[in-house]
Amino acid sequence: MDRTLTLLGIESSCDDTAAAVVRAGIRPEILSSEVLGQTDLHEAFGGVVPEIAARAHAERLDSVVEVALAKAGVRLDALDAIAVTAGPGLIGGVLSGVMLARGLSAATGLPLVAVNHLAGHALTPRLTNDVAFPYLMLLVSGGHCQFLLVKGVDRFQRLGGTIDDAPGEAFDKIAKLLGLPQPGGPSVEREAAQGDPLRFVLPRPLLDREGCDMSFSGLKTAVLRAREGLVASQGGITVQDRRDLCAGFQAAMSEVLAAKTARALALCDTRPTAMCVAGGVAANRSIRAMLETVSDRAGLPFIAPPMRLCTDNAAMIAWAGIERLQAGLTTEPGFVARPRWPLDETAPALLGSGKKGAKA
Ligand code: KG4
Ligand code: ZN
Repeated sequence: MDRTLTLLGIESSCDDTAAAVVRAGIRPEILSSEVLGQTDLHEAFGGVVPEIAARAHAERLDSVVEVALAKAGVRLDALDAIAVTAGPGLIGGVLSGVMLARGLSAATGLPLVAVNHLAGHALTPRLTNDVAFPYLMLLVSGGHCQFLLVKGVDRFQRLGGTIDDAPGEAFDKIAKLLGLPQPGGPSVEREAAQGDPLRFVLPRPLLDREGCDMSFSGLKTAVLRAREGLVASQGGITVQDRRDLCAGFQAAMSEVLAAKTARALALCDTRPTAMCVAGGVAANRSIRAMLETVSDRAGLPFIAPPMRLCTDNAAMIAWAGIERLQAGLTTEPGFVARPRWPLDETAPALLGSGKKGAKA
């Protein structure tokens, strides 16, 4: 690292309004990381409402940035640049962040760095664990699900991904259909802990197909059918039925993710230095344990950043900005916000658009 860089990061591509200050010297340091969620605003609608999200970002970004700078003890004139998520995501939210960043840049003369949100997630293991390129990254959240071979700051090879629902989205839908609270992941995991994963025979979608693309909507439908069967035969479902359905679903999800991870490792054209995971679903103990086993078998370290850096945050955006500056990558002054922005432009587009916006 040739010089110290201090960046403000701004993130507003989905339903978290976030700002952070990260400094890179001998070791990177997160000086502050503020995340203001919007779960309460969208709860009644069963998913993120883009217009509500955009308005909330526009209203809250100023103060979130102010708090991030104050907590870091850094004034605007002490920054080297401003990194902002320029996509992919819900375009109204992305624009709120980009407009604020442009305003700050015009007022201060600070350069802007346009960051891809997915690159932010994908580069996080370098912020937390100084992982060397190339490494395999499984991004699993409510909006993303893809395997990336991360070869450089701006070199990502997508090996596969979901063709329909993202895993977090599937957890959330299962919770909804079983009457459990949102977000669904933690609720389903809690129920599954007391359930029998073998009672219901649920599919392991696409395991019979080569490669590491995944599909989870059939699994969700299978849980729905099993529940309907119980309702038809006994007039409803018992607490134990619910636990067993959750356990069966989680086991199927874990097995598919583990099997596809093994395949993704086999597809890497250069040996990765580590197997990394990011996204809210990485909090799931059963999934984590299965992925760890796959990594162990391949003789690779398994790296999962702390949860606050696995889920959406702005420290990852500031860090990706730092990495881009250090690599000499420049941002065009007229850059545009992009609702879709695949990391690997050469990979064929994945299907599906998910409740949290377009998947890249
Ligand atoms: O990364 P994240 O905070 O937001 C985005 O989707 O961008 O991920 C949230 C997702 C939700 O769908 C939530 O249900 C899921 O992560 N999640 C979990 C667990 N904790 C959160 N899924 C499974 N098991 C968990 N323990
Ligand atoms: Zn994300």
